Order: sequence, then structure tokens, then C-alpha cells
Amino acid sequence: MNKNIVILGTQWGDEGKGKIVDYLTSDSSYVVRYQGGHNAGHTLVVNGKKTILHLIPSGLLHNNVIGVISNGVVVSPLELIKEINMLKKNHICINKRLFISRSSPLVLQYHIEMDIAREKKLGISALGTTGRGIGPAYEDKVARRALRIGDLKNEKNLSMRLEKIVSYYNHQLVSFYKQKPVDYKIVLRDLLPTIDVIYDMIKDTTNILHRAIKDKKKIVFEGAQGSFLDIDHGTYPYVTSSNSTIGGVLTGTGVGPKHLDYILGVTKAYSTRVGYGPFPTELFDNTDKHFSNKGHEFGSTTGRKRRTGWLDAVSLCQSVHINSLSGLCITKLDVLDGLNEIKICVAYRNVHTSEVISFSDIDDWENVTPIYETYPGWNRKTLGIKKLEDLPYEARNYLDRIEEITQIPIDIISTGPDRSDIILVKDNFFI
Ligand code: GDP
Ligand code: IMO
Ligand code: MG
Repeated sequence: MNKNIVILGTQWGDEGKGKIVDYLTSDSSYVVRYQGGHNAGHTLVVNGKKTILHLIPSGLLHNNVIGVISNGVVVSPLELIKEINMLKKNHICINKRLFISRSSPLVLQYHIEMDIAREKKLGISALGTTGRGIGPAYEDKVARRALRIGDLKNEKNLSMRLEKIVSYYNHQLVSFYKQKPVDYKIVLRDLLPTIDVIYDMIKDTTNILHRAIKDKKKIVFEGAQGSFLDIDHGTYPYVTSSNSTIGGVLTGTGVGPKHLDYILGVTKAYSTRVGYGPFPTELFDNTDKHFSNKGHEFGSTTGRKRRTGWLDAVSLCQSVHINSLSGLCITKLDVLDGLNEIKICVAYRNVHTSEVISFSDIDDWENVTPIYETYPGWNRKTLGIKKLEDLPYEARNYLDRIEEITQIPIDIISTGPDRSDIILVKDNFFI
């Protein structure tokens, strides 16, 4: 039986999705990136060797797997080529096993300039974007002016359209943001050599996936970002510009819900967030230092220090609902080793009225304070443990409480960065 799996983040990104996608694709035929762009940074560690991927689907380290970048992803051809070359250097050849949707919007230099200019102008109200041009690229898509991957096949038309769109951007960059204009000829000059490399990868990826479904091939769908960075369901406006929740799979691939057999929510055993915006359980004390140092909480894309905090079970329950999660994968359990006590936020309280508020009732995050349950920590090392029964009693207790609160099973536990540091609690994936 084939089982198509969706793997998505339930928090604010960097939950460890890349590692889990890599682990779960070993027996699959396809791995699909369906939203976001090179704002993502997915880290894989195989036998101690680290690879960070931004655009290329994480399952491609298995040479039997075909990768698809579907229509929901915004693609920077320059970044894609960089990544292909990086993999080549590491003896991973993706030749004939990477397909890109002809409908994917392009991310080009003017998007990046606009992203950076806007953040600068916003000053203290900045969002803390990755500065990769992702927001402007999605704006172009919705405004129906985007250049798309398929347009690379018509060079003459491309040049004309590029000139027009760059002049539209320059008007804003120069007049409003007081920045230097972008030269469309330079954008074109940089873009043209990429076309040869990616020309044969340009496909109708919806068709490819439907053929795979008909042939009963297993497909893994790889989410980027996390549920609370979702443009609709996240902590708006401190969000990214795509749907990182479950709907992004459907619109971002053209595959319907009846073909999604299992939806796995990847959840860090604590919380992190990069960039600005609400973060109710954020810490500024020694526990933050513990998470930061032991968990190496620095962005895989920008190198920024990630903000850290206790696990927020209120938002996690919201994630379970909005994504129809089948089960959870708890990552970075080993990072909790050595803490005297561990907290879980089980409710939010309004700081002024002391009333308990539900997630969807919040209109001002400034007024929210977490209510915690406290559990004993453990002093033993869990790094690399592969069997549930080998975990300390206190760690199992913590995991049991998460299951009890969320009402869904924890089917995978990750106990270290390496592909092999994993506990498969229930095999819903390889059958
Ligand atoms: P993603 O964006 O969700 O794929 O996550 P990132 O790769 O940006 O960040 C997760 C980080 O945690 C990476 O450095 C991973 O190597 C690391 N990691 C993943 N799972 C574990 C784990 O269980 N334990 C530890 N210590 N590190 C992990
Ligand atoms: P992965 O896939 C964590 C955050 C940025 C910023 C906000 C908007 O590795 O989990 P953008 O550049 O997307 O317009 O920035 O979203 N952000 C991420 N944070 N992990 C990511 O991806 C992220 N992608 C974007 O820090 O707060
Ligand atoms: Mg990441």
C-alpha cells in the first residue's frame, strides 16, 4: 500500500522538518516542496555530514527519489543553481530527478531589493524577513504580473516583460524608498545562463504527481516555514507570504485531499521563532541560553539568533485543528536534557482582566501571558536514543502530557540531528 505523507511545521518554522522529510523519504518515489521559497533552511545530517537545503526538496539525498518543486513555490533560478552545484560538489547528482512547475513564480533581484527597502523603511516596525524577496514575489503572483518558470522558455518575450516589470519596481524603489534602481539588463544577464540548466526540468508537475498517484507511488510533501507563519492562520502581519498550513499542499500542487493519507506535524520539544512578532512563551533567562547553546538555535538561512521559549500547547492545539494533523513528531527532545524543570503553556490569560482566552479570541498579543504546568526534568542523556523504553521516565511523562493535551499520537521522536537519531513510536509511514 502506498501512503502519501505531508510533513509540516506546527510552530514558527525550524522545527526540524528537513531531517524528518529525509528520514521518511527513504522508501518513497517522490518528494515535493509545495510552498515558500529560499527563505526556508532545512538541515540534514547524515553520518555526521551536514547539508542545508533551501529550495531543493530534502528527500533528494536518497538517490532513488524524484524531487518536485511545485507551483506553490516561488523559485529563484540563481539560488536553485547554487544549490544544485553545492550538491554536485558533494557527489549528489539530481540530474533527471528534479522537476519544477512551469507555473512557479520567479524570485528575481528586484524582489530582493524591494524586500530589503521595505524592511528598512519600516524601521522598528520591521517584520524581520529573511530578505530573500519572498513577499514581493508572492505579491506579483497575486497581482497577476509575475514572471513564471515557464516564461524562461520564451527568451524574447522574457526580455520585454522583464523591462516592463523592472520599470514598475524602479518607480517605487527610487521615488518612494529612495533606493538605487535595478538594471533589467543585469537581471537578464544573470538569468539567461540559468535557463540552459533548468530548461529540461520545467514540467507540468500536477500531471507528474497525478501519474504517480495512479501508479501507486509513495509521495512525501515537504512543508516550509511553520503554521504560525502562515499568511492566513499565522500571527499576521508577522508572517511569511504563503500558506504553510495544510491548504498550501492542495493549491500548491494540484493534488486533492483524498490523496493525503497522513499529515505529520513536526513540533520542537520547546519553541523558537526568528524575526519579530508575538511569542507568548518567549524566555530571556538562563533557559533561553540553554536552548540556544544546546539546540544551536541560529537560523539555517540567515544565521540570526532564534528567540526561544517553552512549548506552547495552546498554539499547538490550534495547529492540530487547522492542519487536520494525524500525528506528531517531537524533535530536539535531547535539548531538554539537564534542565531541572520543564514547562508547558496550557492556557493564555489576559494580563489586564485575568480571564483565560482562547487562541482565536486574541486581538492583541501584548495582553497575553502564558499559564504553565511544570514537570520535573531529567539528568540523563537522551541524545541518539532509538527506543521509547530507553527514555528517562520524566521524558516519557512529558511526551504523554503532550499527547493528552493535543489528543493526537506522537508517532516519531527525534533525539539528535543525525538521520539515525530517531524513535519510530508507531510505524504509520513505511507500510
Ligand atoms: P527545518 O527548517 O524545520 O528543517 O529546521 P532547521 O533545519 O532550520 O532547524 C532544525 C535544527 O535542529 C537543525 O540544525 C537540525 O540539524 C537540528 N535538529 C533536528 N532534529 C534534531 C534533534 O532531534 N536534536 C537536535 N539536537 N538537533 C536536531
Ligand atoms: P523553515 O522552512 C523560520 C520568517 C522570517 C520572518 C517571516 C517573514 O526553515 O522553517 P519572509 O522572508 O518569509 O518574508 O519572512 O518569516 N521565516 C522563517 N522562520 N523558518 C523558516 O523557514 C522561515 N521562513 C521565513 O524570519 O519572521
Ligand atoms: Mg529552517
